[in-house]
Amino acid sequence: MQELKRTTGVTTRKLEGGFPLTVDAFGDLCQRAWVEIDQGALSHNVRQLKQLLSAPTQLMAVVKADAYGHGATMVARIALEAGASGLCVATLQEGIQLREAGIEAPILLLGAMNTPEQVNAIAHWQLEPTICTPEQAWMFSETLSGLKKTLPVHLKLDTGMSRLGMPWQEVTQFVRLVKRLPYLKIASIYSHLATADSPDPTIMRLQHQRFEDAIAQLRDAGIKPPCLHLANSAATLADASLHYDWVRAGLALYGLYPAEHLRHAVDLKPVMQVKARVTQVKTIPPGTGVSYGYQFIADKETRIAIVGIGYADGVPRNLSNKMTVLIRGQQVRQIGAITMDQLMLDVSAIPDLQTGEVVTLIGQDGDLSISADDWAETLGTISWEILCSFKHRLPRVAVG
Ligand SMILES: Cc1ncc(COP(=O)(O)O)c(C=O)c1O
Repeated sequence: MQELKRTTGVTTRKLEGGFPLTVDAFGDLCQRAWVEIDQGALSHNVRQLKQLLSAPTQLMAVVKADAYGHGATMVARIALEAGASGLCVATLQEGIQLREAGIEAPILLLGAMNTPEQVNAIAHWQLEPTICTPEQAWMFSETLSGLKKTLPVHLKLDTGMSRLGMPWQEVTQFVRLVKRLPYLKIASIYSHLATADSPDPTIMRLQHQRFEDAIAQLRDAGIKPPCLHLANSAATLADASLHYDWVRAGLALYGLYPAEHLRHAVDLKPVMQVKARVTQVKTIPPGTGVSYGYQFIADKETRIAIVGIGYADGVPRNLSNKMTVLIRGQQVRQIGAITMDQLMLDVSAIPDLQTGEVVTLIGQDGDLSISADDWAETLGTISWEILCSFKHRLPRVAVG
């Protein structure tokens, strides 16, 4: 245990992420591969984002998809403690998981709920659904009439994302309909931006204008607009005029920037680090192939390390021969195909490397760091997908 503490920097204070593990299991937990969640960095990011907001704007922490892979319960607790006012999840199960963990803050369900069974569960767990169509509104109202329960509901407008939501032009009829239905109380009206992370603001401005048009329509019809929200992380960083009553921030909470041009707005610290241990070290002669398909063949005598993490843990196989990792503060090249549970490194530059030493795949080691953005760039994807890709067989370990 002591040894683990020294080499990983992990404290034994808290272990979370839905794993029924005790601190006694800590040694096993960090024996192979794990994800470290920096609680201090998360609180810092929440405070940074809150500094951008002026009263009465509130920060809603987007913790869907297990808080982008960080562990929803732990992230929700820390974000609320640090000043978030509520939480957003995508699915009913995600909302229930938070309630079962004892979280009492408002939880907005961003996904569509279309069945009476879902309405029953939403009412039972006091979650707050999104309503996008008249049919949904009728179904909710009818089911809630049977239960004799009123629910706060959030009406979603499509202002140009072409995903969930009523066309913004129809806001007045939609709001009138929902207002007439019993057991539904409109808590907010919101929309979602498609291109807030683009350096070209044209489409974001168009969506903003449409959202404003919808609000003006309501005012003209004598309807006082309720709580309004439009901004994701990018819009939160980009432009205060998009903040309205709430901002719904996901990526920035986790310490990543939605785009390079938004870096100046706040100082964010990455929350997630992905680490694994060296499980064997050996020397291979020139001409020796490494891993399935021999995608790497040593051209000289090479010292290699085997590491206990693979694509079944969420390290994309497409990074084979294209990624580097950090050991003892040095950059080390990955070689050969990444396999399901293991990958190989060329560690010729560290001849005395020992079994059990820690390898940083994403995170900081000494002066060097590797980020989810680096992986995303190599793979031609986005950092959101990288964060969400780490599987649950990697224990989430709270640090900081
Ligand atoms: C409706 C909605 N709002 C807010 C967010 C948060 O986005 P981001 O992670 O870019 O802050 C998402 C995430 O996809 C979303 O779907």
